[in-house]
Amino acid sequence: MCGIVGYTGNADVGSILVSGLRRLEYRGYDSAGVALFAPEDAELTVVKTSGKIADLSASMQEELPATKHFSSMGIGHTRWATHGAPTEANAHPHWSQNHEIAVVHNGIIENYAEIKAHLVAKGYTFSSETDSEVIAHLVEQCYQGDLRAAVTTALDRLTGTYGIAVISVKHPGTVVAARKGSPIVVGLHDDETIIASDVSAIVSRTKQVVFLDDGDIVTATGGDVEITTTSSTPVTREATLIDWDTDEIEKGGFDHFMLKEIHEQPAALATGLRGRLDETDGTVRLGGLRLTPQDMARIPRIILAACGTSYYAGMVGKYYFEDFAGIPADIQQAAEFRYRNPIIEPDSCMIAISQSGETADTLAAVREGLMKGATVLGICNVVGSTIAREAGRGVYLHAGPEIGVASTKAFTAQITVMAEMAIMFGRTRRLSAAVGRDMVRELARVPEIAAAVLEREAEIKVIAEKYAQANDAFFIGRGYMFPAALEGALKLKEISYMHAEGYHAAELKHGPIALLDEKVPVIVPVPDLPDKVKTIGNMQECRARKSPVIAIATEGDSDIDAHCDDIIRIPRCHEFVAPIPVVIAEQLFAYYVAKARGCEIDQPRNLAKSVTVE
Ligand code: AGP
Repeated sequence: MCGIVGYTGNADVGSILVSGLRRLEYRGYDSAGVALFAPEDAELTVVKTSGKIADLSASMQEELPATKHFSSMGIGHTRWATHGAPTEANAHPHWSQNHEIAVVHNGIIENYAEIKAHLVAKGYTFSSETDSEVIAHLVEQCYQGDLRAAVTTALDRLTGTYGIAVISVKHPGTVVAARKGSPIVVGLHDDETIIASDVSAIVSRTKQVVFLDDGDIVTATGGDVEITTTSSTPVTREATLIDWDTDEIEKGGFDHFMLKEIHEQPAALATGLRGRLDETDGTVRLGGLRLTPQDMARIPRIILAACGTSYYAGMVGKYYFEDFAGIPADIQQAAEFRYRNPIIEPDSCMIAISQSGETADTLAAVREGLMKGATVLGICNVVGSTIAREAGRGVYLHAGPEIGVASTKAFTAQITVMAEMAIMFGRTRRLSAAVGRDMVRELARVPEIAAAVLEREAEIKVIAEKYAQANDAFFIGRGYMFPAALEGALKLKEISYMHAEGYHAAELKHGPIALLDEKVPVIVPVPDLPDKVKTIGNMQECRARKSPVIAIATEGDSDIDAHCDDIIRIPRCHEFVAPIPVVIAEQLFAYYVAKARGCEIDQPRNLAKSVTVE
């Protein structure tokens, strides 16, 4: 949602904060700010702006004296507005009444109105519409000489979620940070400490990081770091060595992170398969599940929970677990899950799917599942993310950092992991070694299948540009192509702002077909699979209403040619693998439509990469 950076040490704080915020800009980018302190100062210097980090950097150039060396400590923030418009006044950091304390916050304070009324009654004046500002004044009210104690007391009064960083003129060189529901990572490095919402803001200075747990408070002064709980009990958190570096989060010559990440899919998928496929026994080895064959054989039902693109991946996963493992599987909207008082039978397995591992609704579903006794597995991309840690077991995608707000390589990696899990579970049940071997061999082809689609990028670009000015579009599919259609529609709408709907192909005639005319293109994933004939019938229905039809079809399958206006070809592959080439084609289609429409692409309006609030 928002990005936080804090620094204590002797380097140039301003440049460290700005470069860190740039790495976090994908999390939210409607306003930004920094609070700096120089040892000779008596007060904090705060620079804030609406707009992006580039605007903040320009403001800092204008407002900060070029001769002053801000070292010792500072905090910074890039915002995705939840309370109050994206204005300079609402940008973080927020000051305390006496301007001695500055705070940056990621999350939502649910009882802020009550606290604000209490503080106003005590004579505090507010300068923003945000919930976060109450934290700054509350820390001041609680301050009695010990900054960490003041933060601890203040946080105890809050209801909601927070990842915060706090500095005070009374404590030069010290940054206090805390988390509850919004991630905070601490970068350890000689005589300095960098604190941020995620590792991408830290990894250029150090790869030794500590992920705080909910309730942790870190007090850092230079390289001295102490972690306590909100009851001031010291705790030890193991450091993690991050295995990727900044050039992986640079664009690598591509115009956008999204295009880079689309092209990374063959390599990312190969990484997700490496060392896991067992062709001899026709099964898969996934160590992180910590499930014995007996455990897997006993699972009566699988509940998948996720949001957005991860939800559509879960829809594919449902088919896998039912088709190959014979286990009933439900895909649940994570946002609904905890409020439904879900029925979870003993030995049920819950799978939380989340690229970021920080999506608030999915995290809440994990906690609900754990409370009801489910075995909860996380499928995450970010190592050490909250969902991964609270699930306590599962599978990492190892797809590398996904910076573009639109999820691409995470989706194909997620369904690959679920195919692996389905084979593994299936082999403890009725899936034979022979069929398991066939599936494992087909999975081994996935990187080359993905690469083959990327080779058609130029053709896809031409087709995308042909339809780029439409106002509406439909994606329709059957079976495994139904979630693929939903994902294609989401990709198109979230980066090109073109209205797009995903529908089951058979559902069109139950109403939505009323919307079709010559101005509404229909994209139809229709690989050469058993239900192709029915989908061709649906294509004919669309063309009868003069809608242009764009087929995503198997190389060499000429049955399609007479029933569409344009064809995007994908390699021939097994039905269960087909969502991967289809969705990669849809990703490229959406990308080039958005590019033709001059859209932002990596940071679409109104969106954030990780939705860490309900
Ligand atoms: C995907 O393109 C979207 N940006 C969004 O739907 C995303 O998939 C959703 O917010 C879930 O995120 P997660 O996978 O990090 O939990």
